[in-house]
Amino acid sequence: MDSTNNIDCIDSGTENCPCYLAATGDCLICSRLQGKEYCDCLWKGVCIYNEFIQNNQKINNPRKDFASKIVSRKQYLDDLYVITLEVGRGFALKAAIPGSYVFLKSPDFQNYYQTPISIMHADTENGFITVLVKSISAKTKAICAQEDKLIVRGVYRGGISGMPKIIGRFSRIIPDSKVLILTKGVGFAPAINFLNWVGSDTETEIIIDEDKICTQVIWDYLQPSTANKVLIKSLPECLSLPLTEKITEGNYTAVVVLASDYYIEEMRKIIMQLPEPPAFVHSNNANICCGEGICGACSCVDPDGTIHKKCKCL
Ligand code: FES
Repeated sequence: MDSTNNIDCIDSGTENCPCYLAATGDCLICSRLQGKEYCDCLWKGVCIYNEFIQNNQKINNPRKDFASKIVSRKQYLDDLYVITLEVGRGFALKAAIPGSYVFLKSPDFQNYYQTPISIMHADTENGFITVLVKSISAKTKAICAQEDKLIVRGVYRGGISGMPKIIGRFSRIIPDSKVLILTKGVGFAPAINFLNWVGSDTETEIIIDEDKICTQVIWDYLQPSTANKVLIKSLPECLSLPLTEKITEGNYTAVVVLASDYYIEEMRKIIMQLPEPPAFVHSNNANICCGEGICGACSCVDPDGTIHKKCKCL
């Protein structure tokens, strides 16, 4: 691979920039911080190179592990838990942005047990975050077995791809947006955080496939005021519906799919056939391991042969 500069980075220009990649000469944006003698970046924000050099080559606000008290833990199914953690108001405020996720781990386990989990709800008044965890294998089983504390690291951005297409001024949704959301399984969790961010002034419809979750958790966390229309239906059934008509007749300006890559691709095909396709936003289902652009676990290669670290993509 030649250069990786000039691609977007979810952390560029944020309080977490410059990051570890600047220190190792691997910044995704800055050609100078990739060891080149010239600047050819397309970044329009504060110069990352300048920030890094003037700050004594310091990494800005590296995310650190901390122990967080479990405020509540409710079991919904044999393998489905909702866990609320005390994290402080500042942390909860950052977690209220759609696509936010944290790494969680049981205190008794090694660091390689950390796993990324989407934020379902951020209570900014009390400084709590709530997550929906499916206990499926070693890491998530260890998390769900804990009753007192969990180790938290975050907040990470980028759990939902394509958000810049629907964000307008003041980091709010573009006025007069009309959003159709489709979720399957634990994709329901980031949908709740998304709906809370969108607010009640935006018209929204959510179609929930309750496979692997349950009706009770849906009605416990879906506030009637946050979604105008709610439909509980399996996504395979939805795909067989005339979704094209639904999207055009409903005048949706954005379609958000929080489900597996299969459903994302099926919906992308449907949307791309439309003469005026709405913004397409979807879950980032990459195999995220470090979340910092370091380990390469989330890498994918595009048709040009360029490698992208998906944990850092917008
Ligand atoms: S998860 Fe490690 S590089 Fe993306």
